[in-house]
Amino acid sequence: MIVFDKVTKKFPLGNFALNEVSFEIDDNEFIFLVGPSGAGKTSIIKLIMKELSPTSGSIVIDDEDISSSSFKKISRLRRKIGAVFQDFKILTDKSIFENVAVTCQIQNLDKGETKKRVRETLSLVGLEKKEKVFPVQLSAGELQRVAIARAIVGEKKFLVADEPTGNLDPKTSWEIMKIFKKLEGTKTIIIATHNSDIVNSFQKRVLVLKEGKLVKDKRSGGYDL
Ligand SMILES: Nc1ncnc2c1ncn2[C@@H]1O[C@H](COP(=O)(O)OP(=O)(O)OP(=O)(O)O)[C@@H](O)[C@H]1O
Ligand SMILES: [Mg+2]
Repeated sequence: MIVFDKVTKKFPLGNFALNEVSFEIDDNEFIFLVGPSGAGKTSIIKLIMKELSPTSGSIVIDDEDISSSSFKKISRLRRKIGAVFQDFKILTDKSIFENVAVTCQIQNLDKGETKKRVRETLSLVGLEKKEKVFPVQLSAGELQRVAIARAIVGEKKFLVADEPTGNLDPKTSWEIMKIFKKLEGTKTIIIATHNSDIVNSFQKRVLVLKEGKLVKDKRSGGYDL
């Protein structure tokens, strides 16, 4: 469970990324974060990953207050969260297998277990035939599949995605969203997006941000700023 309680993020120049934002996300929920550019979507994702710390307010993840966390707590937290970004962030000098295996290595899984999990996960994202290939040989949509595989391979409890279809054409975007849909119910999924067609079609819970404020929290709804 993720609980934001009056979370404010203010930057040194005085601008606010978030202003007293509160919400609760239950385990295995599927959530869209929407709002105009600069609304605070990426900031929420970075706060969940503890890449940013709040100026005030508290963030509790699985009963642990991460607002003032020690290093040990942070590494435990990050092991539970997989992340996907608009620009894929794939390691170009490693094969597809190695890109996904990185997550298993961080979790100290042995070689056999790593191989099994990487293969299962590549198959889930439709890339079972590409494990030996290098990133330069893949399309943008395929690279995003690799990024999703890397984000979920270690049985992560949370999956956050910041504009995962931002660099993809409409058809490929739908293919990527089908993978997220397939994962629904297996983990908490939080997707920041500007893609109104996808949000309207999914009819999931939508958190709408505007200028750092949470202005709507719809249990099941469309893209309506
Ligand atoms: N490191 C920073 N220093 C100062 N201001 C920042 C910093 N990072 C973000 N901001 C500001 O915080 C606000 C929210 O930014 P954020 O990146 O969360 O928006 P967003 O909703 O993800 O926008 P977009 O749709 O363009 O990705 C913006 O006004 C932005 O300028
Ligand atoms: Mg953003």
